[in-house]
Amino acid sequence: MENLSPAKLIESLEWRYATKKFDASKKIDEKTWACLEQALILSPSSYGLQPWKFIIVQNTEIKNKLKAVSWNQAQVSDCSHHVVFVIKEKMDEEHIAYFINQTAKVRNQDAQSMEGYKKMMIGDLVTGPRSHVISEWAARQAYIALGNFMTAAAVIGVDTCPLEGIDPVKYDEILGLTGSGWKVVVACPAGYRADDDKYSAAKKVRFDTKDLIIHK
Ligand SMILES: Cc1cc2nc3c(=O)[nH]c(=O)nc-3n(C[C@H](O)[C@H](O)[C@H](O)COP(=O)(O)O)c2cc1C
Repeated sequence: MENLSPAKLIESLEWRYATKKFDASKKIDEKTWACLEQALILSPSSYGLQPWKFIIVQNTEIKNKLKAVSWNQAQVSDCSHHVVFVIKEKMDEEHIAYFINQTAKVRNQDAQSMEGYKKMMIGDLVTGPRSHVISEWAARQAYIALGNFMTAAAVIGVDTCPLEGIDPVKYDEILGLTGSGWKVVVACPAGYRADDDKYSAAKKVRFDTKDLIIHK
């Protein structure tokens, strides 16, 4: 693997900004989009359980409906691909078995040999104290995927804007998730910045390194 230089990485991270205005005429091509879907899929999660789905909205009608319940933020309709991060509301034995079976298949292992690991995950997330706050746990996993997605996009020159300014309950309704055991937590339009988005030139506001990084 050829590593990105540290300077190039910082350049990409400086280039990324929460895009306020997308150029609605510019679409992400298929190959570039396929790469970003892989970035979503390759995101790490606790135990590797992937308690998520990523709904990619390109349909204009659905985008417009979602914009209306996203504080009317124009990024939702003007972006190329609107990514909606969805989590599994409750962790259950079926999902854990699904993961164990997938591990056995991919790694050519015997699922039976992972019985102890499976029980441990069930004891932690399905029946243990963490089961009471499990959707918070799942949301944290989804936010890791969100961060991964935005950085990956920046590295290949695609703009994004993380969006918490959405009504997740209305999103659930529009996307047909209500009552399904899955729910929306956050969204992220992706595409290409408009030439006249003045925020692209705004300086980054960050606290001083000394206030954020502690060396021991
Ligand atoms: C979880 C999350 C939710 C956000 N929600 C919105 C939003 O709804 N609308 C928006 O314009 N920006 C939103 N932002 C963008 C932040 O305001 C922005 O990332 C922050 O000011 C830092 O600026 P930068 O990303 O341009 O460096 C959100 C950022 C994060 C991480």
